[in-house]
Amino acid sequence: MGNRESVMSNSWMERYWHPVGLSGEVRDQPSQFMLLGQRIVVFRSGNGVVAMEDKCPHRGTALSGGVVTDGKIACPYHGWQFNSHGKCVHIPALPEESPAIPERIRVNCYNAREEYGLIWVAMSSTPESFPSWPRDAWQNPDYHTFSPGTYMWDASAARATEAAMDFSHFNFVHKGYTELADGPIIKPYEVFETTDGMQYAYEDTALKRDYSLHFPFVLHDTKTVIAEGEGITWSEKTASQEGDVTILTFIATPVSDCQTRIFSFIGRNHSLDVSDSVMAEGFDEIMDQDRIVVESQLPVEIQDNINAEFHQRCPDAASLVYRRLLSEAKHKRT
Ligand code: FES
Ligand SMILES: [Fe+2]
Repeated sequence: MGNRESVMSNSWMERYWHPVGLSGEVRDQPSQFMLLGQRIVVFRSGNGVVAMEDKCPHRGTALSGGVVTDGKIACPYHGWQFNSHGKCVHIPALPEESPAIPERIRVNCYNAREEYGLIWVAMSSTPESFPSWPRDAWQNPDYHTFSPGTYMWDASAARATEAAMDFSHFNFVHKGYTELADGPIIKPYEVFETTDGMQYAYEDTALKRDYSLHFPFVLHDTKTVIAEGEGITWSEKTASQEGDVTILTFIATPVSDCQTRIFSFIGRNHSLDVSDSVMAEGFDEIMDQDRIVVESQLPVEIQDNINAEFHQRCPDAASLVYRRLLSEAKHKRT
């Protein structure tokens, strides 16, 4: 974890919900996370999950080094205590008869939610919509969803997400894993904007892939088997039948401008007698294949100028819409 705040150039991302950690990483005592280059302290209290700036307003100390008692966090330096709304409620060095502690002595608090086994934080007080999940897979008894792991990449969240959206690299980067059965040529496909992002579908001879992006960094790839035993696809490792659905989810959290933590999930309505570890075989390797490519991309950030890189209208159709959405979000007045 970093010790100093970085310069923040991506303040538009504060309007969105981002997972900062797994549910199991947040306890009754404080934990530190980084989001958009800022330190955040997160802990559980009776009212749910509390997330606040990890910086004491007295001398800037990390509150995450302190202790939580009865829902109040005490700074490790001089013991000032802050309630779950960030208000300073006790200064041990002051005698009891001192005047009330001014309201303005407070720590910035953020919206926090626990969903899908993740702790989500929105730094803006008026965040955009909260992401849903395809097929309502966490509630739907026909589906089982688990996380094969989280990954830290030295890359921007937008570059990482664009890689997850892009299937025209499969036959090069993921040979023998997720190759398109009829690749590398990409057939024309349509991209649709939605109220929360965008969606598109692509079929080879074995699978239909329905991509849905909850802008900016939550991507679901819902793979439906359309023909058994066709082509080479990672999700056919277990015996596939027509109608089998595997949902691969990729969520990129902007830890900073150049560091991204990826939360991944595999959901399925089939092979429920197969262990999760068997289903996850090869997943780490696929992620590492992507990591090597994405970490090598320059510049680290996707540029606002669409002409800064070259595009092919057909294979890059999804990427072109994504880049327009990124540009609109950056320039949107709030
Ligand atoms: S720095 Fe936090 S109480 Fe002094
Ligand atoms: Fe990939």
